[in-house]
Amino acid sequence: MPKDTLTVVDNRTGKSYELPIQNGTVRAADFRQIKTSDDDFGLMAYDPAFMNTAACRSAITYIDGDKGILQYRGYPIEQLAEKSTFLETAYLLLHGELPTAAELDAWVYQVTHHTIIHENIKKFIDGFHHDAHPMGMFVSAVAALSTFYAEAKRIADEQMRNNQIVRLIAKTPTLAAFAHRHSVGMPYAYPDNDLSYTGNFLNMMFKTTEVKYGPHPVLERALDVLFILHADHEQNCSTSAMRGIGSSHPDPYSCMAGAAAALYGPLHGGANEEVLRMLREIGSIDAIPAYIQRVKKGEVRLMGFGHRVYKNFDPRAKIIKQIAEQVFDVTGKNPLIDIAVELERIALQEEYFVSRKLYPNVDFYSGIIYEAMKFPVDIFPVLFAIGRTPGWLAQWQEMLLDKEQKIARPRQVYTGPAKRDYVAIEKRS
Ligand code: ACO
Repeated sequence: MPKDTLTVVDNRTGKSYELPIQNGTVRAADFRQIKTSDDDFGLMAYDPAFMNTAACRSAITYIDGDKGILQYRGYPIEQLAEKSTFLETAYLLLHGELPTAAELDAWVYQVTHHTIIHENIKKFIDGFHHDAHPMGMFVSAVAALSTFYAEAKRIADEQMRNNQIVRLIAKTPTLAAFAHRHSVGMPYAYPDNDLSYTGNFLNMMFKTTEVKYGPHPVLERALDVLFILHADHEQNCSTSAMRGIGSSHPDPYSCMAGAAAALYGPLHGGANEEVLRMLREIGSIDAIPAYIQRVKKGEVRLMGFGHRVYKNFDPRAKIIKQIAEQVFDVTGKNPLIDIAVELERIALQEEYFVSRKLYPNVDFYSGIIYEAMKFPVDIFPVLFAIGRTPGWLAQWQEMLLDKEQKIARPRQVYTGPAKRDYVAIEKRS
């Protein structure tokens, strides 16, 4: 009779243990009973980079990496990208269900009316050096928001949590646009409540002397879909940072600054920026084979390729390719797209990439679209952060309400010296 258990025999002692299996997992803590003696600490699981360890239960995002499936709260990403809006998707991630028309109106109203930031924030953005990276400014500005909302510490209070969630979703585009305008020396453009979430962001980024900025509807929609595609991706590096920091119970601004810092790295959200630099470095289709050789020799990584979870294709990359065509119809073709398409074609035939299951990820084509829309390269990771904000917040809230969660505190395997006595400085060789 099959049982949902795992029988483990410890060959050191000959003892046998039966561990329950639930949801395809065993509890790592169950291994602690496996000891060689009473004073033995007990067996631990060793899993650097969490390659095979679930740290939480989550009802937010489902990914099947082999089949290339991504769903938010059960809804396929392809359907959300086609039919939803970023704010509706944010509501879905946070509340678990799609909103009714009245709920959506109230949610959009709330977010739209919290986009303005305190004037003092402008002062410290002014203090950054002229060539400060927008992501550095963004991370700092998000952290600084906590000093403007002292009540944000009251994370056990649902209303307080909701207030900060609305503020964060509403204000991240403002912070991002202000960081950009500082770096290009342009006056800050204030939010326009007549515009959509994404339309207003384009307004704050690109408005110059016109009395009223009107975003191009195709570009406005394309950016909205890009935000939808980035809105959550379960327990990735930055979301794990959000949960890990949140587990010691600081306010959500401090948590999100940490999550955004994790996103900044070139192996995560910073990859979109690196892809653009790489394509420019390659420069022409003729130069692709030589570049692929360098990748195969391990000299460089093919940025925008590979994923910890997706080993077949990244469904977001497929959707992004379609958006690229719509955007180029308006902006004209970004010449880098030809290099990217050819790079993808050659890479997907090469044994190096095929055997390692390396495919284009979400970042491979997103940067080319952003550039065609006139976003400067170094703001790309910030665009990712705006999109990911609702996901971080949904995951943070789920972690706080999960009775099984405690302060995150991994174990280690100590490999340093055994106890030894302090050596006086004159006796050290
Ligand atoms: N180019 C060349 N080789 C690669 C690449 C790449 N982009 N990605 C992985 N490999 C190789 C590794 O060298 C390794 O080869 P080996 O077995 O011969 O040593 C093998 O593929 C497995 O790679 P790992 O680094 O072990 O895979 P991991 O799951 O840890 O890394 C990651 C995933 C970080 C995304 C990696 O593929 C990478 O660095 N990609 C480029 C950066 C990038 O595009 N990041 C964005 C990810 S998507 C996102 O964050 C939204």
